Amino acid sequence: MSIIAIIGGTGLTEFPELNIKKIHKQVDTTLGKPSDDIVEGELHGQRLLFLPRHGKNHAVAPHKINYRANLLALQSLGADSMIAVNAVGGIHCDAIAGHISVPHQIIDYTHGREHTYFDGEFRPLDHAEFSHPYDETLRQKLIKVLSVHTLNHGFSRGGVYGATQGPRLETIAEIKRLENDGCDIVGMTGMPEAVLARELNIPYASLCLVVNPAAGKTDALITIDEIRCVLSRGMLDIKSILGEFCKASG
Ligand code: HPA
Repeated sequence: MSIIAIIGGTGLTEFPELNIKKIHKQVDTTLGKPSDDIVEGELHGQRLLFLPRHGKNHAVAPHKINYRANLLALQSLGADSMIAVNAVGGIHCDAIAGHISVPHQIIDYTHGREHTYFDGEFRPLDHAEFSHPYDETLRQKLIKVLSVHTLNHGFSRGGVYGATQGPRLETIAEIKRLENDGCDIVGMTGMPEAVLARELNIPYASLCLVVNPAAGKTDALITIDEIRCVLSRGMLDIKSILGEFCKASG
């Protein structure tokens, strides 16, 4: 049976709904340790692995996450597809707090991260095909679930994810630039995770929860309290989508 890895982002550091079978503690890979223990379990008959990207205490900054170890560890435990959950800022007007997006494209603005397995050391130099950064079959399955499920807010069937370095939020000018580039949403962890999944040949898609309008998209400044409030409600939606996804796959 297939094993889906869920990589939880900000606001999804635990998944208590999982029927836990095993906790893989301190998994070690040739490229170091993942962000935290990996929970193996089952949801509606579907086998799952759960890893909180920032660690369960949300202490690992976006640029310090060992993305390579995270994905390698999940693969070593049998993950054959991956669903990333990401909290993002919304750039377009339909991207209001609580909105969910299943992006279809990425622009990478990050720097200084270990972003490839094909570095000539871990694996020989190679050039991953990345025209379509997300797996279309997985994306369509998520979209199907989203379209029949009652959500507190709407969802988008696609979108361009701008991956920024963080941990600070962006300036208004930076968001204008991202908007001119065609970005619909902005987050700090979409890359290099997506490309590493591609290099490992693992189908990967992302469920993005808009937790704030990006800088300059409202008159108000972004507050962490506001983000927290949207996160706690929005992640309930995300978890029920994941539950429905498992019912359909399990
Ligand atoms: N920018 C970048 N990352 C984010 C944001 C944002 O506005 N909100 C949540 N993650």
